[in-house]
Amino acid sequence: MSSEVKTKRTTTRDIRLRKGSDPIVVLTAYSAPIARLLDPHVDMLLVGDSLGMTVYGLDTTLGVTLDMMIAHGAAVVRGSSKACVIVDLPFASYQESPQQAFRTSARVMAETGCAGVKLEGGAEMAETIAFLTARGVPVLAHIGLKPQSVHSAGGFRSHGRDEKEAAAIRSDARAITEAGAFAVVVEGTVEPVARAVTQEIAIPTIGIGASPACDGQVLVIDDVLGLFSEFTPKFVKRYAELGPTVAAAAADYAADVKARAFPGPEHCFAAKPQRRD
Ligand code: KIV
Repeated sequence: MSSEVKTKRTTTRDIRLRKGSDPIVVLTAYSAPIARLLDPHVDMLLVGDSLGMTVYGLDTTLGVTLDMMIAHGAAVVRGSSKACVIVDLPFASYQESPQQAFRTSARVMAETGCAGVKLEGGAEMAETIAFLTARGVPVLAHIGLKPQSVHSAGGFRSHGRDEKEAAAIRSDARAITEAGAFAVVVEGTVEPVARAVTQEIAIPTIGIGASPACDGQVLVIDDVLGLFSEFTPKFVKRYAELGPTVAAAAADYAADVKARAFPGPEHCFAAKPQRRD
């Protein structure tokens, strides 16, 4: 038997119990090598459908398919051993009915090995969240700015600015909590509303563009690393500028190949020495 001690993965229950204690650290990840690098530093890895934009070059997340999410979700689970891995349900794979949401979630959980799923929506998704949680599917909810509803919401903009929107976000937060979500992503929401929601509900709020009042924070890894240059939302802090580093490495490689400076002798396989009998 191996003497190797397996690190226990953070569970969705561990995350729920962190409400009101030290901040919960979340990043998105889409591949095994990046998951391996992030795993020691985060509580949760989110395989977000933002991969449609960051990895696949789509304009919105609407074209992301279930097969894409499953392939990337499985890679992130393989690349991590400590973080709680949550996989996004893509657009049109769960909104039709609780039964459709369960079938989709069951595939995602069985084929990736993730700990739970994320879905966008508030009060209108409460019945679905209750259906899923009662059947063993932990749900991370997502309220405020919901990228899958970008067209009906009038674009990527901050939410909760007027009283009507603020009241709707607060009632969404209560509804998904009562339905059994273990935590909720609050995106693109003005600080007073994010603060009120965080105080009012019993589950952790994970903010993205929703102020430090939340119980945790999430960012898209390509934004953090400076790899996604199409646009940078106001709420993003870049912790590295890898874009220019990648471009410089590609330019150096191209120059070496053209000058026949790569491969060098150290990169070549020698022919097997001939036996002289
Ligand atoms: O898709 C995603 O990456 C997300 C996060 C930005 C919260 O939903």
